[in-house]
Amino acid sequence: MVILDGKALSVKIKSQIKEEVRVLKEKGITPGLAFILVGDNPASQVYVNMKTKACEEVGIYSINHRMPKETTEKELIEVIKMLNDNPMVHGILVQLPLPKHISEERIIEAIDYKKDVDGFHPYNMGRLARGNPLFSSCTPFGIMKLFEEYAIDVKGKDVVMVGAGNITGKPMSLMLLNAGATVQVCHIYTQDLKEKTKRADILISAVGKPKLITEDMVKEGAIVVDVGISRVDNKVVGDVDFENVSKKVSYITPVPGGVGPMTIAMLLYNTLLSVKIREV
Ligand code: GUN
Repeated sequence: MVILDGKALSVKIKSQIKEEVRVLKEKGITPGLAFILVGDNPASQVYVNMKTKACEEVGIYSINHRMPKETTEKELIEVIKMLNDNPMVHGILVQLPLPKHISEERIIEAIDYKKDVDGFHPYNMGRLARGNPLFSSCTPFGIMKLFEEYAIDVKGKDVVMVGAGNITGKPMSLMLLNAGATVQVCHIYTQDLKEKTKRADILISAVGKPKLITEDMVKEGAIVVDVGISRVDNKVVGDVDFENVSKKVSYITPVPGGVGPMTIAMLLYNTLLSVKIREV
């Protein structure tokens, strides 16, 4: 069994990005990334702080807009428009989830798709669906990089994706499909999940439910990727019962230290891409 070490790969990618940022700065270009956080969701605050710190590490200039939970959709769109027009800002990230009274769809569509480093805009999702991506969603993109690093070829593999959300499940399925995998997407209405997961050469879970994936649901020698993040007794855990599942797989990601650090590395990568499509 091999651990897919996202932490180590993220360190490697960040050092490459740091060097590229240094070269850009010599040419007088400082990559800029703007974060918008609406409300006081504690997990979102932690994520935005981690992303801000990662920008500092590699020399990307970051701006933080913290807005109160009562912010109206109109006020938020005004801030986005201002950032769309600000030449110092190459990338814009609106941390999700948003408060209930704000339409996630209208907010994502308000972001200039050329600054959409999350890859959430319908233009970018559409490009991915057509197999010609511009910005790709950071979490699935990071998982594809992990596969590449460990020479895991997904072509022709049977992949089961558990979770069909816009941040991971859907874009992940499209990336795998584009790479030649046979993809089955499971979700809350899926009947007999175990019957599906047991057939998977590659099993990816992005649900947020501890111990959703148990040993009896996994094929011997499978590759397991855990995107879940939950808190149990003040410890961060994934969707996979790691202790038991890890005994029968060929590769597995740990939580923490697997997919999470890769998401942040790919955000920095996408920020560099946002500079390249405009300035280089
Ligand atoms: N909320 C959970 N994951 C993400 C992410 O990758 N990007 C944004 N903007 N919000 C999130």
